Amino acid sequence: MDHFLYHNGVLHAEGVPITEIAAAVGTPFYVYSAATLARHYGLLAEALAGLPHLICYSVKANGNLAVLKVLGDLGAGMDVVSGGEYLRARAAGVPGSRIVFSGVGKTRGELRLTLEGGIRQFNVESEPELRALSEIAAGMGLRAPVALRVNPDVDAKTHEKIATGKSENKFGIPIAKARAVYAEAAALPGIEVVGVDVHIGSQLTDLAPFRAAFEKVAELTRTLRADGHAISRLDLGGGLGIPYTRSNEAPPLPHDYGQVIRETVGNLGCEIEIEPGRFIAGNAGLLVASVIWLKEGEGRRFLIVDAAMNDLARPSMYGAHHDIVPVLEAAPGLEHGLYDVVGPVCETGDTFARARALPEMGEGALLAFRSAGAYGAVMASEYNTRPLVPEVLVRGDHFAVIRARPSFDEILGRDTIPEWL
Ligand code: LLP
Repeated sequence: MDHFLYHNGVLHAEGVPITEIAAAVGTPFYVYSAATLARHYGLLAEALAGLPHLICYSVKANGNLAVLKVLGDLGAGMDVVSGGEYLRARAAGVPGSRIVFSGVGKTRGELRLTLEGGIRQFNVESEPELRALSEIAAGMGLRAPVALRVNPDVDAKTHEKIATGKSENKFGIPIAKARAVYAEAAALPGIEVVGVDVHIGSQLTDLAPFRAAFEKVAELTRTLRADGHAISRLDLGGGLGIPYTRSNEAPPLPHDYGQVIRETVGNLGCEIEIEPGRFIAGNAGLLVASVIWLKEGEGRRFLIVDAAMNDLARPSMYGAHHDIVPVLEAAPGLEHGLYDVVGPVCETGDTFARARALPEMGEGALLAFRSAGAYGAVMASEYNTRPLVPEVLVRGDHFAVIRARPSFDEILGRDTIPEWL
């Protein structure tokens, strides 16, 4: 459930008509619902109730400071994958003691920045990273808290570009090698081993791969403890899938996901960390656009809208489906036509949907792409010199622009023509 519903025939974000935001901000724009973010966070907290845990929201899904503040104020931790994301989490008021740092290519500069600023845990993905971290931490008179990210060689059964848990993927330390790397970690002066980390992929719609991975983590934890390591935390990553259509999808319920966690690692006495991104933010956001032209092609009707692949990359990048709905509810019984919904960018890949059934919509009509709260604005670019799409947050009857659309002066002002040219 989310908080984007029709009232009196107009799509609302909580108590605010989308038409009102569109009039104030112009299209295209992203709009997020604070109540939906909080609801999804709450569902996961309920699913893990009774287990010591920290929900570390994955900042990469949607890193707007206002979104991070909504979640941080609820007690969420954060999972960051760059120095920039770390600074975002801190700027939103999240203490370093609630931030975990993941990622396969952390630079020395990023390791230093986060050690200096304070960090809960590094999820280390390779031996060179481990050695560098030890060297930097020891040089600062510190011991860096570390979980090693293990690669369990489990097929997450998701889109190939977002599966991370197979041995052929670049992520983590092969689980068969883990014991040896833990032994090395324990001997390094700047490292304090605290846990085990795993993340097998994103948009998982089946719990079986989670179960398989968590079972391997449980077994490894027992082995590592027998080897003398104090394993007190298990970071189980993110990846819980969400419905992208309203009709025929039934992704796992958070409660059942929590059950899998309890059954596999619940009796180890560890603090559980999870890193959900999409589950919290995905269905908490819409991308709102308006129709530029309706173009009659040969046997096809093209709805050309003012949002494009640079604003929401998922359809062009992963062939992803996003439900598209009119902002003004179609009258019951009104006939639907089949449209190819496309953006203005000069690439055929700039297609959001083919032969999608939609009510008649003319020039200026508003429409909304659903499930756009995660991996939407964060993946946007200014390709074709289209200004970065603005973001709006709604809570109750309030709305505010939380990232403004840049002006063309700002955009052009970022470039420099060298004096000598
Ligand atoms: N933790 C780690 C280490 C990750 O790499 C990711 C996502 C997450 C947590 C959060 O996963 P989530 O709960 O959101 O599934 N751009 C793609 C998704 C890329 C996910 C990358 N890693 C998309 O639009 O589908």
